[in-house]
Amino acid sequence: METAKITVRASGTYDILISKGGLSGIGKAAAERFKPCTVAILSDDKVFPLYGKTVMDSLEAASFRTVAHVIPNGEQSKTLDNVTAFIDCMVKAQVTRTDMVLALGGGVVGDMAGFAAAIYLRGIPYIQVPTTLLAAVDSSVGGKTAVDISAGKNLVGAFHQPALVYLDTENLKTLDPSVLRDGFAEVIKYGVILDKKLFDTVAKPNSFDLKEVIARCIEIKRDVVEQDEFDKGLRGLLNFGHTFGHAIEKLSGFTITHGSAVARGMIIAAKVARVYGFTDYTDIITKVVKDYGFETDCPFKANELYSVILSDKKRSGANITLVLPKQIGACTLEKMPASQVLELMKKAGL
Ligand SMILES: NC(=O)c1ccc[n+]([C@@H]2O[C@H](COP(=O)([O-])OP(=O)(O)OC[C@H]3O[C@@H](n4cnc5c(N)ncnc54)[C@H](O)[C@@H]3O)[C@@H](O)[C@H]2O)c1
Repeated sequence: METAKITVRASGTYDILISKGGLSGIGKAAAERFKPCTVAILSDDKVFPLYGKTVMDSLEAASFRTVAHVIPNGEQSKTLDNVTAFIDCMVKAQVTRTDMVLALGGGVVGDMAGFAAAIYLRGIPYIQVPTTLLAAVDSSVGGKTAVDISAGKNLVGAFHQPALVYLDTENLKTLDPSVLRDGFAEVIKYGVILDKKLFDTVAKPNSFDLKEVIARCIEIKRDVVEQDEFDKGLRGLLNFGHTFGHAIEKLSGFTITHGSAVARGMIIAAKVARVYGFTDYTDIITKVVKDYGFETDCPFKANELYSVILSDKKRSGANITLVLPKQIGACTLEKMPASQVLELMKKAGL
């Protein structure tokens, strides 16, 4: 079994280890990097029964002590209250600054565990064990951690890089097909923003080695994060399809999933790019999105999308930065007055 290693050099330096079937090797990988300590695991009630024992047994065999805290699965669990409950569990288990947190699950658990690790005792290290495709290619890498509050998603959080990311692609086999598909929206995104070869590789579903594709996505994210860890500019490229996607998600009352919304958001961005004066890639992007089984029509009008976009936290002043494809594999950040975004959407037929 071959393990791929990608190293991230940001405010912390850490390895991302990617294997096909290597979950039980996590103890060894941790022991090679960290002194024996207590590992406080945060997981959810779908993932923990599947993989919790393997992770705990492996860590304990490598002289780590483990404690686990399991939350109900789903976005509604990503709350400050649940972070507090996890922190209470760590206090009870006498977790100290020389101990660690481990996130076993998708982006929800990863964001929460990372946030708990960022604030507990003013910051302790944490390991990400991503078990969804989205978490593998996106949320487990780059150190953005957060929880949702009633005013909106991810409004409370911190930058805190993990100390290790440990991914076994075999774990993705138990994913609900719609959750797996959501992750492919992010994979397609990486191709459009920075890598035409990746885009061409993934254009046909099921025709490629998933481990290799995941590794390439992580390399792209690594390169972006190393240049702009704190999201001051370039990292904005990763939001391709997300400005419109978030608006669609919100307007649907979150009945349209994140991946499905981002997929439609990428098509809107391509349409907007066309009326903005760039080459038209709408058909190419729409075809790929369709081939993955995503819906391609946006059920909302320009005015509705615009009102949500305006309230988005990513808006700075009166300007909005859109990520638009100049070519497949080369997106640019286009800063423009908010009113121009509305005009472009209308011109694009929304
Ligand atoms: N920090 C970042 O940079 C970043 C980036 C993108 C998204 N996010 C966040 O990620 C979250 C979404 O992540 P997600 O899509 O992974 O959602 P998720 O964590 O809710 O997982 C989706 C579902 O899949 C289940 N699941 C997970 N792994 C499984 C497995 N191997 N087998 C069977 N079921 C499994 C979960 O229990 C859950 O029901 C959002 O909260 C979003 O804000 C963060």
